[in-house]
Amino acid sequence: MTDLKKMTVAASGKLRQVAYDILNENTKLLSWQQGGRVPAEQFDAWLAEAEGLYSIGNIKVDEALLAKAPKLKVIAQASVGYDNIDIAACTARGIAVGNTPGVLVDAVADLAYGLILDSARSIARGWQHVESGKWGEHKGLGFGVDLAGKILGIVGLGDIGSAVVPRAQASKMQVIYHNRHQRADEAELGVRYASFDELLQTSDFVLVTVNLSSATAGMFNSEAFTKMKPTARFVNISRGQVVDTMALHDALRDGQIAYAAIDVVEPEPLPGDHPLLTLPNITVTPHIAASTVETRDAMAKLAAANILAGLAGEPLPAQVKPKD
Ligand code: DGY
Repeated sequence: MTDLKKMTVAASGKLRQVAYDILNENTKLLSWQQGGRVPAEQFDAWLAEAEGLYSIGNIKVDEALLAKAPKLKVIAQASVGYDNIDIAACTARGIAVGNTPGVLVDAVADLAYGLILDSARSIARGWQHVESGKWGEHKGLGFGVDLAGKILGIVGLGDIGSAVVPRAQASKMQVIYHNRHQRADEAELGVRYASFDELLQTSDFVLVTVNLSSATAGMFNSEAFTKMKPTARFVNISRGQVVDTMALHDALRDGQIAYAAIDVVEPEPLPGDHPLLTLPNITVTPHIAASTVETRDAMAKLAAANILAGLAGEPLPAQVKPKD
């Protein structure tokens, strides 16, 4: 039997207590519990010994990092997205990669729904208004729009998008979606398939939940925004790189679309003097869709379980499909 206690696991940032306890008890854990990033030199020394890597803080796991970690057997990414990891390079080295699907679906769907509602009803802007003493000045804020009777177009209807559907239906919205492949359970979900163009042209709210890939990078460009209704609200909870940030800025500035409410943006963190932040018709949250206590704990537990399985040479509870 493999003695995991002799196996080294390096973590690229501070672990949640639940993951720390599991890994510290079962492996030789090297983690940076004081917070922030591990100093590069220290991390490189850890990588040289590591058989497991707990990847947190969006580090780039590429050929350069893998070359520093010749003993690696498993990488556990503490998020569902793994666009920071070169999967093909890991596969070529026989390194298993795990992520955290499933456990964050409801938390992310809740925030997506919250941003849809915010984009319709100016919740964040309303608070800013009150906070800055302008309660009496109605002009700045204007009226919102109803969700009831409106069309929500979801681009990338996977687990998270599907969890948004009943939330939107509870607000009496109709839901259409666009995917690479049409889903067999459309009737069950109560959604209708649309081409990308039809979705852009007819949706009152466009929600992006696609994975970031070479096929989706930059798919929301100026051409896409031009096709949307001038009254449309744009919501992104996937990855910032799916959107051409300056095209979004121009579409909002020029009234091609009415509002954007986004949890992800390129770049992250968004600098305080970024042109997007000069616009009156945008809400930006700092990539917090999965950030609830319960969900972050569940993600940390799953990432730790992925590490232990990988070190033992077993299939990971949540393994990313290897790329050829
Ligand atoms: C993820 O898990 O990929 C989310 O973006 C949360 O960080």
